[in-house]
Formats: sequence, C-alpha cells, structure tokens
Amino acid sequence: MLRKLSVLANTTFVFAFLLFSFISIRQAQADKINGGISPILAAEYIHSVIEANRTIYSEVIVERLGATIALPSSENWEQENALLLPAQFLAKTAQHSNKKGIGMRYRLMSLWPINKKNGPQSPFETKGLQETLKNPGKPFTQLISVNGKQFFQAIFPDKAVTKSCVECHNKHPQSPKQNFKLGDIMGGIIINLPLDKPTSTNKTPRIASEVVADYIHSILDSNRAVYAETIVDRLQKKKIVFASENWWEDNTLLLPAQFLLDSSDLIAHQNIALDFKLISLWPINPQNGSANEFERNGLQYVAQHQMRPYFKKTTLSGKKFFEAIYPDFAVTSACVECHNQHPKSPKKDFKTGDVMGGISLFFRVE
Ligand code: HEC
Ligand code: HEC
Repeated sequence: MLRKLSVLANTTFVFAFLLFSFISIRQAQADKINGGISPILAAEYIHSVIEANRTIYSEVIVERLGATIALPSSENWEQENALLLPAQFLAKTAQHSNKKGIGMRYRLMSLWPINKKNGPQSPFETKGLQETLKNPGKPFTQLISVNGKQFFQAIFPDKAVTKSCVECHNKHPQSPKQNFKLGDIMGGIIINLPLDKPTSTNKTPRIASEVVADYIHSILDSNRAVYAETIVDRLQKKKIVFASENWWEDNTLLLPAQFLLDSSDLIAHQNIALDFKLISLWPINPQNGSANEFERNGLQYVAQHQMRPYFKKTTLSGKKFFEAIYPDFAVTSACVECHNQHPKSPKKDFKTGDVMGGISLFFRVE
C-alpha cells in the first residue's frame, strides 16, 4: 500500500515537472528580455548543490556512522542492509532528477574508474578530466550541438573529501589507481544543460531564472527523496539505525531537514550567491515558519497548487535576485510518522503524498 502511494507520488512529481517545464519554456521566452543567467553561472550553482550534498553524505553519513557504529557502506547495500556508496548515492539522485525530463543531466566519472561505465565517454570528457587535474580552480566547459540542439557542458573536479574515499578506492581490486591521497582529485562531475538556439548576435543564450531554479530544486528534491526513502525509511524499517534531532550525540542519521540545511550551510561558506532552506505553515521548529509575506503567500500557494512553484524577482542594493518556493512532499511514511508524533508539531494528520511545507530558493541573477 505504501509502496503504491509512493509510486503514485512519483508519478505526480513527473507529471508536475513535465507541466512545469512546459510553462518554463513559455516563461523562458519572456525571461530572455530580462536577462536570465549565463550557462557557466547556472552550472556553478548546480554543481555547488551536488557537491554539498555529496560532501554531507560522505562525511556525516558514510564516514561518521562507519566509524562510530560500524555501519558499513557497500556496493551490495540492498542485500547487506548497508549504506549506499557515495557514488551510488549520487548516481541514484542523478537518476531521480534525470527522470523528471527537465533537460539538465549530470553524472560522476573518472579517468581511473572502478566501474568501467564511469569512464569518460567522449574525447571532450577525457580532456575535461585531464584539465581539471591541471586547473582544479575552474570547470572545463564546451558548447556542443547534437541533432541541431545546443548544449552547454561543464566538468568540475571531484575531490577525496574524506579518508574513506581514499582507503576504499586504494584497496578495491577493480581500481586502476591505488595511490590516491586525501584531497586528491579522483574524478569529475559533468553537468549537461540544454540551451536555446543561438542567434547571430547571441552565441551563448542565457538560461531563464525560472529554469535554473527548476534545476537547483530538482537536485535538492532528488537528494531529499533518495535520502528519506533509501537511507532513513529503509534502515529505520529494518531497525538498523534511526534518524534523530540529536544525531551527533546519538550516533544516528540526520533528519532529512538537517541534511538539507547542512548542505545549505556548506554553500554559505563559499563565495556563491545561492541560498536555500525548508519552511512550513506547520513548523516543528518555529524558526522554520514563514519569515515574511512572500514566504507566507508562497507556502499557501504551493499547498493549493501542488504542481507549481511560487516566485518573484527582486532587486537588493542594485543587484537582481530570484526567489522561489517549491512544494515539499511527504515522499515516505517516515516523514509523516515522525512529524505526526512529534510533540512540537502543530499538525498531526499529515498523510503520505501531502505537501508538508516548501523548499525556498534564493539566488543572484546577473
Ligand atoms: C566503501 C567504498 C567506497 C567509498 C567510501 C568511496 N567510493 Fe568511490 N566508488 C566505489 C565504487 C565501488 C565505485 C563504483 C560504483 C559503481 O559501480 O558505479 C565508486 C565510484 C566512484 C567514482 C566514479 C568512477 C569509478 O571509480 O567508478 C568516483 C569519481 C568516486 N567513486 C570517488 C569517490 C570519492 C570522492 C569518495 C569520497 C567522497 C568515494 N569515492 C568514496 C567505492 C567507494
Ligand atoms: C525522524 C523525524 C523526522 C523525519 C523522518 C522527517 N522530519 Fe521533517 N522535521 C523533523 C524535525 C524535528 C524538524 C525541525 C528541525 C529543525 O529544528 O530545524 C523537521 C523539519 C521539517 C520541515 C521544516 C518545517 C518544520 O517542521 O520545522 C519540513 C518542511 C519537513 N521537516 C518535512 C519533512 C519531510 C517532507 C520529510 C520526509 C522527506 C521529513 N520532514 C522527515 C522531524 C522529521
């Protein structure tokens, strides 16, 4: 029954996104006049979110729980009741996001892949991976045309952020390289963004802010869904480990909300004009209530029109920003059970599939 509900919820997501992509196309036309965002900045925003989620998963889930409660991570995570490997977690979120058909795609690869499928698939990918080793400070990019459609591709370095990255790859029998060190570049993340047709005056069309917001949201939503379903829900049902607010002291899993907020904190420490958070009309933590009229209206809007985000463009000290609120759905029974039972929750009758709140995004538009 629950499985059916979650399939139903997924179908609704896909439908919602197809519908929203359609609306975005029309919006994109309008936005061109207003500027939009350069593909390189869009790719940087997108990459920062993928990287932050990857870092939280690797450090706070895999490395910490491996060390404190000996919870293993394994290629055969399903059979062994273990955690997904960081690469599998990324692949699963990419798959979840790519399935929405919003146009953006991403994947993890390497010049020394344990799994041959993760090797470079074109001369550009090989060159990009080599270049990121020489110039880790900036992504390697290109514009390509496939069947008359234009795409922007960017390859960002993927670093060994924890000891476990290095230890596991160095001792893996299928690893072609066994002398990785902490901090080394182990591979790269490629991001592929579709662009409008170039014109003679505009060779690299900008991407509408609404579309960039869709991309950023898609990554957050996919990480949130995969974390809640594949880590929290699955391991709680098997009584292997639980999610709790005091995850650090308890040696437990982070709450899904803390996973999202911690990745937002990581981005706040970088020089990137992007911010996101979780809000609700029925917050367990009053700090997650709406902070202003825009958020209040946005939350009411997404609760009613579950298909569409609520957004606005603003100017602050002469700089342009884009702000959006997307519905946040109860994707698994764990969401509902924990909130309904929580003594501080103002609402106790959430059901799977309900809109429980909103994901709020805020970023700078050039
Ligand atoms: C417990 C073992 C383990 C840990 C920890 C681990 N990896 Fe991997 N990694 C693998 C395996 C196995 C694959 C292949 C997965 C697949 O089948 O796609 C992989 C895939 C990758 C890939 C894609 C290329 C390839 O080798 O197939 C990259 C890049 C990568 N890992 C980097 C990292 C980084 C960076 C970290 C730390 C954040 C990390 N890995 C942590 C085992 C591990
Ligand atoms: C094990 C308990 C637990 C689970 C599972 C859980 N939450 Fe929460 N959630 C909380 C707590 C506690 C907070 C408040 C965190 C804080 O202090 O900021 C929270 C925060 C939130 C917020 C921000 C508003 C608020 O209530 O403070 C939203 C929205 C939300 N959760 C939705 C979800 C969704 C959707 C899921 C499933 C994907 C989920 N939660 C899973 C306990 C849980």
